[in-house]
Amino acid sequence: MENNFKMIAITFFGMEEILAKELLDLGAQEIIKGNRSVNFKGDKGFMYKVNLCIKTAIKILKPIFSKKVRNTNELYEVFNEFPWENYISVDKTFVVESTVFGKIFTHSKYVSLKAKDGIVDRFKKKFNDRPNVSIKDPDLIINIHLNDNLCNVSINSSGSNLNQRGYRKSTNIAPINEVLASGIIKLTGWNGNSDFLDPMCGSGTFLIEAALIAGNIPGNLNRNSFAFNKWNDWDLNLFNLIKDSQLKKIKKININIFGYDKSPSAIVKAKENIELANLSSDIKVFQKDFFDSKKEGGNNLHIVTNPPYGERLKGDINSLYSKIGDSLKLSFSNTNFWFISSNFEAMKYFGLRPSRKIKLFNGKLESRLLFFPIYEGTKKIHKK
Ligand SMILES: C[S@@+](CC[C@H](N)C(=O)[O-])C[C@H]1O[C@@H](n2cnc3c(N)ncnc32)[C@H](O)[C@@H]1O
Repeated sequence: MENNFKMIAITFFGMEEILAKELLDLGAQEIIKGNRSVNFKGDKGFMYKVNLCIKTAIKILKPIFSKKVRNTNELYEVFNEFPWENYISVDKTFVVESTVFGKIFTHSKYVSLKAKDGIVDRFKKKFNDRPNVSIKDPDLIINIHLNDNLCNVSINSSGSNLNQRGYRKSTNIAPINEVLASGIIKLTGWNGNSDFLDPMCGSGTFLIEAALIAGNIPGNLNRNSFAFNKWNDWDLNLFNLIKDSQLKKIKKININIFGYDKSPSAIVKAKENIELANLSSDIKVFQKDFFDSKKEGGNNLHIVTNPPYGERLKGDINSLYSKIGDSLKLSFSNTNFWFISSNFEAMKYFGLRPSRKIKLFNGKLESRLLFFPIYEGTKKIHKK
């Protein structure tokens, strides 16, 4: 308990509630929801556990100090005065990442540069030498969050963002972010209790994230590294202990998780990713046009998908959305159909009224996650 410290999990707009619940389930303490973030407490082992397991956070920060600063000179001084030699030595590398809000500081790159100068000058003065900056694989990632004059400084315990799970091969498909995909599935209320289909699965992100949820598989099991691997207090034995205990909690997946895509290259990509995630025996994908498919059997089916929005993938999106609505009414009774799109115009062509609408952002695109429960009689009730 006394070794507990504060951490901040960063997430996407609209995911705070889901993330707080995930943290609670993992055993986090003193959870407080923020704006695109959730604060919590835990010890070093818990920090390892969160990074390994969490599915709906982009990164986990460990705050080190907060100071008020009125201008870039004061910012420089704050960074020049802090004992960074407790965190890195001159033979190590670091990087400063910044996000800025408010009117005083408007350029995050300039903030990072001034902070970096303060750190480097401190080392030069004290040791006549300095640690170098490395963007690619630094030993220490210093994170600045500047909100008006309040400068919150943390160290990033994750490293590259946690959506980089380690299963994605390069793709040209416009894949959805893994953290967003997992959060969306959780927002739909699915937890592995019914068959799951993504009928326009592209590179398979929803399918893989669904399997990770259904199997209680740590989200970042396939990642090679975390930033804390390079910290002075890195404890490999503790990490392995935590990893082993999480591996024991993995469950056998007893439902069908499957995907279609009409594009042969998408199916190749999806299969590669599924294989990299070690989920080939749990997920099946088929090259198929959604409009040639129909629901098999009487089981409840849960569909989560992101059809083309028309942003990057061309075509007549209005008629595509209208056809999706028609197919559902005709061939998918007893189905919970959820889809995310930023194409507000095309959504009107769906021909069904959504029973839920959730505002989200897919990258910079404001989007809606829409829910259409499809049941016997949907066709009659929701006539255009
Ligand atoms: C935005 S992408 C989906 C990306 C996916 N969520 C991922 O993470 O990779 C939309 C996909 O829908 C597929 N698609 C479009 N029309 C389709 C149809 N009628 N049947 C099946 N797939 C279709 C496209 O080939 C494309 O791969």
